[in-house]
Formats: sequence, structure tokens, C-alpha cells
Amino acid sequence: PLDEGLVPIRLRQYQGVWIPEYFLGGIIAVRQRFTARPDDLLLVSYPKSGTTWLKALAFAIMTRTQHPLAHHPLLSLNPHQCVESLDRLFSDGKQSKVQALPSPRIFSSHTPYSLLSDSIKGSGCLIIYICRDPKDVIVSRWHFNAKMRSKTSKEPTPLMKAFEMFCEGVCPFGLVWDHALGYWKESLRRPDKVLFLKYEELMEEPVAKVKRMAEFMGCPFSPDEEKEGMVEEVIRLCSFEKLSNLEINTTGVINSKDPTAPPTFASFFRKGKMGDWKNHLSPKMAQRLDEITQEKLEGSGLTLGRTC
Ligand code: A3P
Repeated sequence: PLDEGLVPIRLRQYQGVWIPEYFLGGIIAVRQRFTARPDDLLLVSYPKSGTTWLKALAFAIMTRTQHPLAHHPLLSLNPHQCVESLDRLFSDGKQSKVQALPSPRIFSSHTPYSLLSDSIKGSGCLIIYICRDPKDVIVSRWHFNAKMRSKTSKEPTPLMKAFEMFCEGVCPFGLVWDHALGYWKESLRRPDKVLFLKYEELMEEPVAKVKRMAEFMGCPFSPDEEKEGMVEEVIRLCSFEKLSNLEINTTGVINSKDPTAPPTFASFFRKGKMGDWKNHLSPKMAQRLDEITQEKLEGSGLTLGRTC
């Protein structure tokens, strides 16, 4: 195992991908023992790409008729409590809880497509993937790790070191480009089952993207809901401004066996903006990431971030 310099996250290489040690048992157990249902919804992301936001949106869309938005669970629970990580549930030995959940179940995962279980791939269940400009991902990750290290009173890893490891894929869930490409290709092959979203597009056209998510999930907004402003209400409820100021997300402490879990729910909310990399990466670092992005994605039809 390798300590990526981001203690307490220890990584192990599994089928060519660096995976946090804590998750690996869960990922393998999911591959061996999880039975997916066709009406499951799996939210997938590379860490720090907008997982928390995607969880909030999908959960709010799915449960909007069950819970009036004014008294919604997202007002008192963190999105990670509303949508749990499938791999983490299996790492914690909660398989029976997973199997007992009523349909439609909704889970999250950071697992690369190549390592996803055959049951998930073959069940026809729905997958929503979110990606983000790699330059913002590394900056977000570096800040997140600094909070993780404060848990162990270690000095933060220098940004340059974290950056180098990110470029090499020696970080949780490997190369960000390979991760996105795996799901991108699948979204082209099976567009009715895999929806590919970008953090930046969600920011720029939230109404169109949230409507698209609801259609994809099989619960489109009705004309009446649209007239009553339900789409905008969901967007407001799940916005960075709203969620990051709720008590649960400012003071909530995470009690988890998972050493990769941050100390508080507040760690999932930092700036919530596009382009914060400009405040942290040198022009040379930004150019290097853009060049890798261009090279890796060439011919795929996928673009990530902006190159300006
Ligand atoms: P920054 O560190 O750039 O602010 P993840 O949820 O995958 O761990 O990603 C965390 C990133 O998403 C952080 O980015 C965080 O601030 C941002 N984020 C969290 N909730 C958000 C929301 N509701 N809307 C937009 N961004 C959000």
C-alpha cells in the first residue's frame, strides 16, 4: 500500500487503478455480492467533481412529491446521509441493509467503469455521472486533503506534490481522465441508461440540466410543476448557498469507521465555484493539465473544462 502523502488515505493499486485501501474491500464485495435492480439509480463521480451537489439534486428530484421542499430531509441531513456510498456500505459490512432497501434505491460510487460490477452493468439500472474541470478538481482535492490532515494534525501536503500525483493518477480512483472517459463512452453506447453531466453545465444551465435529470430518472416535471416553479425550487434547495449554510452542514460531525471520511460535513462545502484553480495553479501547472486533458480525450468527443 502507498500513503499518497495524504495520510490517513492509504492507496492500493487494483487492476491498474489506485484505490483508497478502505474502499477496496467494498468495491470487491460489490463486484462479488451486490445484486443490482433495474430501477436502481447509481450516482458516480471522481471525488471532488460535484458528488455532494449531484446527490442533493437527484435525491430532491426523486423525493419531491413525498416531501414538500419546505420540510425536505435535505434541510436536516447532509446529502451524503440521504444517498449513501454503495462501496462504503459494503466496506462496512452492511450488505443486508442494502438488499433490504425498497425500490427505487439510490446509491453513489466513485468506482471506475472498468471496475463496476457485472450486475450493475447488466441490470440496466440508471447511472448518472458528473465530471468537472480537472484543474478545479485538483484544487478542491488539495483543500479537502488539508482538512483531512488536520484530523491527524499533519502538515498539509504541498500543492505541487499533490498536483504531480494527480497528473500521474496516484490519487484516489486513479487518473481523472480515464475515469470520465469510461462513463463517457458508456453514455454514448447506452444514452438511455447512462447520463453524463458536467459540473460547469449544471452551473451555467441548471434548469435545463435538472429537467434532463428528472426525465432521465423517469420522473419528469409536469407542466403544473414547471408552472409552479418546482424546478427552480429544487435548484434553490440544492444550491451551494442554501446547503452550505444549514446547521447540519456547518456543525455536523461525521462519525464513521472510514478513515477517508472528513471530520465534518462542512468539509464537502468550500467555494462551490468554477475556475477557482486560477487562484492556486500557476499558468505552467494549468497548461500542463490542459495538455494532458487534450491528449487523453483526443478523438473521444469529450471536453473537460476550458483551456483559457
Ligand atoms: P470546491 O472545493 O471547489 O469548492 P464532492 O462533492 O465531489 O466532494 O466535491 C466537492 C466540491 O463541490 C467542492 O468544490 C464543493 O464546494 C462543491 N460543492 C458542494 N456542494 C455544492 C453545491 N450544492 N453546488 C455547487 N458546488 C458544490
